[in-house]
Amino acid sequence: MIDKITVKNDTEIMKAKMTLHGEFSIGETDKRLYGSFIEHLGRAVYTGIYEPGHHSADGNGFRNDVAELIKEMNVSVIRYPGGNFVSGYNWEDGVGPQESRPVRLDLAWGTKEANRFGTNEFAKWAKKVNAEVMMAINLGTRGAQDARNLVEYCNFPGGTYWSDLRKSHGVREPHKINLWCLGNEMDGSWQICSRTAEEYGRAALEAAKVMKWTDPSIELVACGSSFSGMPSFGSWENTVLDHAYDHVDYVSLHTYFANRDNDVPNFLGRSMGMDQFIKTVTGICDLVKLKKKSKKTVNLSFDEWNVWYHSNESDKKVEKWIEAPPLLEDIYTMADALAVGCMLITLLKNADRVKIACLAQLVNVIAPIMTEKNGGAWRQTIFYPFRDASIYGRGAVLRCPVTVDKYDSREFCDVPYLEAVGVHNAEKKEITIFAVNRNLKEAINLEAEIAGFGKVSLVEHRLICNEDLNACNGIKEEKVKPVVQSGGSLEGEEGGMRLNVTLPPASWNVIRLKVCG
Ligand code: AHR
Repeated sequence: MIDKITVKNDTEIMKAKMTLHGEFSIGETDKRLYGSFIEHLGRAVYTGIYEPGHHSADGNGFRNDVAELIKEMNVSVIRYPGGNFVSGYNWEDGVGPQESRPVRLDLAWGTKEANRFGTNEFAKWAKKVNAEVMMAINLGTRGAQDARNLVEYCNFPGGTYWSDLRKSHGVREPHKINLWCLGNEMDGSWQICSRTAEEYGRAALEAAKVMKWTDPSIELVACGSSFSGMPSFGSWENTVLDHAYDHVDYVSLHTYFANRDNDVPNFLGRSMGMDQFIKTVTGICDLVKLKKKSKKTVNLSFDEWNVWYHSNESDKKVEKWIEAPPLLEDIYTMADALAVGCMLITLLKNADRVKIACLAQLVNVIAPIMTEKNGGAWRQTIFYPFRDASIYGRGAVLRCPVTVDKYDSREFCDVPYLEAVGVHNAEKKEITIFAVNRNLKEAINLEAEIAGFGKVSLVEHRLICNEDLNACNGIKEEKVKPVVQSGGSLEGEEGGMRLNVTLPPASWNVIRLKVCG
């Protein structure tokens, strides 16, 4: 139990202590920790990133207003084309002359896919938004043969059937796609042609072999469990890695939070479960490493994470078999921004093993960016914590112990009221503390000991808070956005400095420090 201090107007403030030391770090963040996801689902592609004829569209039909917002988020890698969609996708349908591409039924989402946008359009668009491509192959209805063909089409320089086909489609230079997902959520009964762990482990291994023989420079992500509540969670990873360990580089994790009963303390505590999920999968990877006496470490790709529940009911009413219907269009709240903040901090705290992470998704579909067909684009509440972390959360993640009161929620015991982490960017000479105050009623007075960096100065304390935890943004108004807070102090000398800041109830905080030396 930590003391409480009393401020002038007699309101109690909870106290928290944190230590940041330049010599104690968990590891460096991978550039790809701030990734996202575009699936052929709802309006993510059509009327999202791609809308020929839109007033902001470039010559390729890519919306410039949306591209600018994505660049603002500093997204490093984007997964494509699914998701559940990929398990029924023929990639060949999406290349070549647009007028001869087939219209297909997408059984994953009950829609029509016209294939006006495909692999080459996506690779070109990803360049426009300065992001790397993370390409998923279909291991549902298809397998190794189609996967190796796609690698050859995308990455082989020329002089073979598939690479020359690419050239004949007007793409002379290979796309050089480095990161590939071996299917999607193959353990899920909802997946087109799901598989048992044995079946998937074998299929992933054989696809991995021929894909890497085609291009040895690529990296591969094997499907882990669809979420930690799957009955086969744990044994799935174990079996799949037993087969494929030597041929894959990452195993995937997916998580979506919901707050259906509006129990915000419990909702915000869910990141504790996410942390446990990461630790468990890390343990399984290392157990298989031990069993195989391997020198190689398989790391984690958290390639779907977000809040998803607002649209569940309205999605049931959406007409089937139409093109690009409004699906999964969650409108996010202030509470959701806090949950996303807790998830970002959890990813950072595990940056030694989580090398890739994708906020699912990016535009219109459970997304930080929304668009109107023929209209504008706007930032949801969750846009901002992601943007803050992606801009300021790169570098060495500090191992920083936090002491603060804890609470028990419906699902979790001992949830700290303060979720926080620090990141040191040596190149930019910056230290940034990210902190969520999970206390919905009381402010937290944070005292941070900062040592091992020399003298530091306080640049700014940015924060997001709104007393109304249901507040949302829209095209006309942003009720949830960062403001700069005054009032923090930083005292001491080179040997050790002490930061003192107040974190309002239910807030996302970014405290930026400059290393002076
Ligand atoms: O992101 C939406 C869906 O969630 C994806 O298609 C699937 O992989 C997951 O179940």
